[in-house]
Amino acid sequence: MVGMEACSWYDEEQTTMNYLVFNWKMNPGTRSDADKLMRAVIKSGKKKNVIVAPPFAYLERIKKMIQKTSIALGAQNVAFSQPSGGMLTGEVSASMLSDFGVEYVIIGHSERRYQLGEDDVHVRGKVEMVQKAGMVPVVCVGERHNMSFSRAKQAVIRQLFAGLKNASPRKKLIVAYEPVWAIGGDKDVSPSRAVRMIMEIQTWLDRRVKKNVPVLYGGSVHADNADDFLAHRCVKGLLVGSASLNPKEVSALVEKVR
Ligand code: 13P
Repeated sequence: MVGMEACSWYDEEQTTMNYLVFNWKMNPGTRSDADKLMRAVIKSGKKKNVIVAPPFAYLERIKKMIQKTSIALGAQNVAFSQPSGGMLTGEVSASMLSDFGVEYVIIGHSERRYQLGEDDVHVRGKVEMVQKAGMVPVVCVGERHNMSFSRAKQAVIRQLFAGLKNASPRKKLIVAYEPVWAIGGDKDVSPSRAVRMIMEIQTWLDRRVKKNVPVLYGGSVHADNADDFLAHRCVKGLLVGSASLNPKEVSALVEKVR
């Protein structure tokens, strides 16, 4: 299998992860619920390598809450360019986010690609802006429909190629494999297929961008199935949507962080 050399073994004992990214998406609905949720993350113990990406409206309060912890702040979006005079209504620049204390930015999420028309030019620009501003892009890739492995691989590699064209090999980068059809919190995903794709992604990154880019898995991950993905050395962490809104799931997942 192509990609085996990049990451070749499976270790049932190794079910801890390097990165746990909570993507709250457009949730929760109120500031007080955001505080409650954040308290659950903070209460759950180990905090290193836990990244919380709340909606922009809650960034300020979440930042205050995590001040004395090692939880990192993430954003769910960023402007794809920085035109002179700041002429980009409704957008938030990478320099603003970095100045604010954001360390990670989710880019190219399928909800942005397919519901908001984010294209390769946007993804590429955002990666460049985020890296230049000293933050870490978390670039999402994934096939849109449940299709054969080889077609899915083609789609994923195309997204990597287009989105990472201007990525700097000298700067940090994280890639998240999220098969779009597996997003929603309750979809039946095969960990072995996901791992196989992550191995392909790792091989591509090793050759085309740089070695040891962490690759995460996202799509219907919860505490009960997390270990099935994390048992493989190639999977460096998880990008979690639905389960990140449930305090019980949150503590169980944070427990697994290295
Ligand atoms: P779910 O965990 O709800 O499937 O969402 C995954 C996701 O889109 C995270 O970015």
